[in-house]
Amino acid sequence: MRYAQLHQRSITDPNGFWMEQAQAIDWTTPPSKALFDDKAPLFEWFRDGQVNTCWNALDRHVENGRADQLAVIHDSPVTNSITRLTYREMRDQVAKLAGALSAQGVTKGDRVIIYMPMVPEALMAMLACARLGAIHSVVFGGFAAHELAVRINDAKPKCVIAGSCGIEPGRVVAYKPLLDGAIAEATHKPDFCVILQRDALQAELIAGRDHDWAEFVKDAAPADCVPVEGSHPAYILYTSGTTGQPKGVIRATAGHLVALNWSMKNIYNVDPGDVFWAASDVGWVVGHSYICYAPLITGNTTIVFEGKPVGTPDAGTFWRVISEHKVKSFFTAPTAFRAVKREDPKGDYVGKYDLSCLKTVYLAGERADPDTIIWAQEQLKVPVIDHWWQTETGWAIAANPVGYEALPVKLGSPAVAMPGYNLQVLDEGGHPVPPGTLGAIALKLPLPPGTLPTLWNAEARFHKSYLDQFPGYYATGDAGYMDEDGYVYIMARTDDVINVAGHRLSTGAMEEVLASHPDVAECAVIGVSDDLKGQLPLGFLCLNKGADRKNDEIVDECVRLVRDQIGPVAAFKLAVVVDRLPKTRSGKILRATMVNIADSKPFKVPATIDDPIILDEIAVELKKLGYARS
Ligand code: COA
Ligand code: AMP
Repeated sequence: MRYAQLHQRSITDPNGFWMEQAQAIDWTTPPSKALFDDKAPLFEWFRDGQVNTCWNALDRHVENGRADQLAVIHDSPVTNSITRLTYREMRDQVAKLAGALSAQGVTKGDRVIIYMPMVPEALMAMLACARLGAIHSVVFGGFAAHELAVRINDAKPKCVIAGSCGIEPGRVVAYKPLLDGAIAEATHKPDFCVILQRDALQAELIAGRDHDWAEFVKDAAPADCVPVEGSHPAYILYTSGTTGQPKGVIRATAGHLVALNWSMKNIYNVDPGDVFWAASDVGWVVGHSYICYAPLITGNTTIVFEGKPVGTPDAGTFWRVISEHKVKSFFTAPTAFRAVKREDPKGDYVGKYDLSCLKTVYLAGERADPDTIIWAQEQLKVPVIDHWWQTETGWAIAANPVGYEALPVKLGSPAVAMPGYNLQVLDEGGHPVPPGTLGAIALKLPLPPGTLPTLWNAEARFHKSYLDQFPGYYATGDAGYMDEDGYVYIMARTDDVINVAGHRLSTGAMEEVLASHPDVAECAVIGVSDDLKGQLPLGFLCLNKGADRKNDEIVDECVRLVRDQIGPVAAFKLAVVVDRLPKTRSGKILRATMVNIADSKPFKVPATIDDPIILDEIAVELKKLGYARS
């Protein structure tokens, strides 16, 4: 067990272990040590080093013989185009964009919001910020104007960089009106916007505020990389919590570089020059780490895919891209494979492509169900590796270190803790439980490099959300168990976060929107099981007395409200009107019990329930929607 020894060392000698890994990074000033614990329980990594992320992702490869190697391949079945960019081209374009931003006053520490579809310019915008030491915050295109406004108010960006539109199968999503709406709603106003005009839809620009990207960069002088201290925030990425106010996860610069670089060889088993593809979106953490940063830091070619697993144009798209661009390691969410499997269960499309380049497939973002893993293994005839992580950690908490020592795969488990993660399963009192016993999964502090040091503008919330429950530990929000071999099994969330098609969503945020409907007196949103998306949100609405309108009308309005306020990505399409919600005598809504009823799972009626009859009423309504079948 070479890996077990490596992991052990990372826990007992974090300074030695991570300083060794840090040697793979180009530093302007090397750090004196890895771990800074003087602010514990807040920890920092490589704080006194000086470094630039863009240099490590682009310039150093240009200097070291990779100038003409492809850095980015944009494969876009929705626009029927493929664009290839070398490391030199990326470096030059990013340096010009950074120069143009700098000329408009963007400097180290300023925030820049990026609201873009899956185009290479999204990566350029991220890297241009990194070049200047500006802090980017990418907002997923499937979020509505209100969500964008919430992020603008929290991050207070000097500038917003946006695309004119995104392209979803069958429709063009105009981003500019959403951006304009968000800026109108937000109390903070950015100084200026840069708009990438796409052929599918040109946006109208507001004179004096908006710049056309092409004009903006045309005569710009390229900017040099600005070294920043290791603890400087590289980016803020907002993620769902229990309320409508998302949490701004901060990623510190140096730990991000070191950890991502370690992960590429040791987990994803790629070397410089190899082609790596994460089929996700730059708006999510997977996109940050494994579409943009890690492959470029390592000197890989990264694929930026603008399409869907099915329907763009068919269920063979993934295999076409892998074969055409010679992808060695492929990363996607289980839901994407379920979508492909549903359309092509026998894998007819798989047989049409030469997939001999593909060596390993990685799944994350949600629980990988054994059926999906087995199907993928049988079709692709390569190892299918589940790994578990979250926005907060930025890279895998548990994985199979395939490039270091391939461990046996156990179906249903994302395998073992990665370096620096001291993973424990705790009971309610914070005591470790024996192997095989279900508990809360917590990580003994410090977390390794690359993970969040705190939340943007919300240190108290960081303590409350993650550190207070089990002193000395970071609470992951996931529950599960560990077996005798240290393999972890992730079973459920311990909070009100649900996972819809690999997208993390807050039922609390949806409840806040529903409660704003004038006819809704009280509501609850739960996540019900779905064969394709893993979970789907389902709302229960109790109406105000005197709301004498048709229930269907109110339900339709509520569905539209969530789409308008949170965005289509919430996939909120199911809601029912009920007379009452099941509660404990102290007034807590019994969401977990409702989930069990909906999913036809056995459950115990909680002893503290106020009125058990309400559960029957809920079951009747759920049956009408096709749930609660037994
Ligand atoms: N901009 C605008 N709208 C978007 C969007 C974007 N970037 N991404 C998604 N949407 C919209 C979709 O068009 C859809 O709208 P609709 O209700 O009008 O149909 C809605 O948001 C839900 O999207 P999605 O969850 O993607 O569902 P889908 O039914 O379109 O596709 C899958 C289902 C399984 C094919 C798709 O979810 C998928 O590819 N998932 C992979 C998930 C993933 O990569 N997650 C990242 C974590 S690793
Ligand atoms: P996100 O922050 O959007 O990446 O979502 C993180 C959450 O998704 C985790 O806390 C888990 O609940 C879930 N998740 C991610 N990967 C896995 C996995 N491999 N197995 C089970 N759950 C996962």
